[in-house]
Amino acid sequence: MARSRPGALADSLLVLLFLVASAAAAAAPGGGLVGVDGTQFVVGGGKTVYFSGFNAYWLMLVASDPPRRGQVVAAFRQAAGHGLNLARTWAFSDGGDTPLQSAPGVYDEAMLQGLDFVIAEARRHGIYLLLCLTNNFHDFGGKRQYVAWAREAGHHLATADDFFNSTVVKGYYKNHVKTVLTRVNTVTGVAYRDDPTILGWELMNEPRCEADPTGAMVQAWVEEMAPYVKSIDGDHLVTAGLEGFYGDGVHESKDLNPWGIYYGTNFVETHRAHGVDFATIHLYPDVWLWGSGAAAQLAFFRNWTRSHARDTELYLGKPLLVTEYGKFLWDGVANRTQRDRFLGQVLDSIYASAAAGGPLVGGAFWQLLDPGMDTLRDGYEIILPEDQRAATIIGNHSRQLAELNGQDVEVVRRRRRWRRGAHRKVHINFFAVQSSSV
Ligand SMILES: *[C@@H]1O[C@H](CO)[C@@H](O)[C@H](O)[C@H]1NC(C)=O
Ligand SMILES: *[C@@H]1O[C@H](CO)[C@@H](O)[C@H](O)[C@H]1NC(C)=O
Ligand SMILES: *[C@@H]1O[C@H](CO)[C@@H](O)[C@H](O)[C@H]1NC(C)=O
Ligand SMILES: *[C@@H]1O[C@H](CO)[C@@H](O)[C@H](O)[C@H]1NC(C)=O
Repeated sequence: MARSRPGALADSLLVLLFLVASAAAAAAPGGGLVGVDGTQFVVGGGKTVYFSGFNAYWLMLVASDPPRRGQVVAAFRQAAGHGLNLARTWAFSDGGDTPLQSAPGVYDEAMLQGLDFVIAEARRHGIYLLLCLTNNFHDFGGKRQYVAWAREAGHHLATADDFFNSTVVKGYYKNHVKTVLTRVNTVTGVAYRDDPTILGWELMNEPRCEADPTGAMVQAWVEEMAPYVKSIDGDHLVTAGLEGFYGDGVHESKDLNPWGIYYGTNFVETHRAHGVDFATIHLYPDVWLWGSGAAAQLAFFRNWTRSHARDTELYLGKPLLVTEYGKFLWDGVANRTQRDRFLGQVLDSIYASAAAGGPLVGGAFWQLLDPGMDTLRDGYEIILPEDQRAATIIGNHSRQLAELNGQDVEVVRRRRRWRRGAHRKVHINFFAVQSSSV
């Protein structure tokens, strides 16, 4: 491009500015920066937008290697071709062999340019991005790497969960947030914090905390970090990255947790934190209830989605996304037929909620791969060009959901109130019938 030939720069500057400006105006997915109005996501001053999404944690990593960028483009092209309008991906790689951040505050420019490319391509394909800022688990670094850095600097920290309360580590994390959010994209010229392609920021992938099972430690961390993100980028949405595990609070339903145990988070209380704009759950009934039968997993799936949608509507009044769900393909345990059934069930429950004006307004399956990425297969992969049935289920869902876009949010809200009023009456009648029959 002209950028590499300084002589041509002056000539093409106006053209370039025009292109950048019109790209920003025309190609921002779905009509611009996404906001929240009650339990709905909105764009363009109060029109609903729903998310048919996918996870592809690998986008920045692959894009950091220019010869492999074609795979990123192909993935976005296939996704857009199936109506997908949201990608959830990693905006972190802490330490390790392929670091974005190799040491606190030290960044790899090739990785940053990979992320630039991903954002530019997402915009070009009309796909919003949910960018996650670190990991609870040690894949790509995460809290353990942050704590290791602090130890190397001479601080005495006990466990990886000190990530959530060490002043030093919180400083490292905030610096990462600031670095990413203020980055100016080398492809589009737009600062990340100004880019409407980004749906929002996720503080951490799947925060959990053994050091404090009550959830208070994660709670305090989210209460500090969500406003911190807002202080740098007041426009984009923020979420914590939770899987939906309940704690002990008054509105929590710990009995529904897999095995009924603690994971160190509170679904309701933490999503109430100042600066948290929407709620998330993940959904892996097969691995969460390993060894249980299909009926138990189905019952869990139904309870989990129903309970979180209800709590989100009653106690949060914010939108809810299923930011990860999947079924592990394993010889003798689960085949594609069963996986596709699960896919259909999750997507149907999202559509049913969205169509009824409910708070569950989108999701993202784990995970999308491009053909020829065999080393990244993890048993959950969906390769659209090679998987006709899954591709049809996903494409149909995207189309259905997209038909709900663009409604006036106030109309949706009124209809919802009316429906819930009607529903309560039915419920009362139902109990009346039940009690009269006992
Ligand atoms: C952080 O929490 C851990 C575990 O509860 C505790 O041992 C440690 O003292 C706390 N650190 C700070 C700085 O509060
Ligand atoms: C689902 O919820 C019902 C009652 O709401 C409960 O009896 C049942 O045990 C729950 N099942 C699972 C798998 O959580
Ligand atoms: C998938 O597994 C189910 C349950 O074991 C079985 O009934 C079905 O025939 C299998 N389908 C295929 C295509 O292998
Ligand atoms: C997808 O939608 C088409 C057209 O509406 C329909 O004929 C087909 O049965 C659907 N397939 C699935 C798997 O939902």
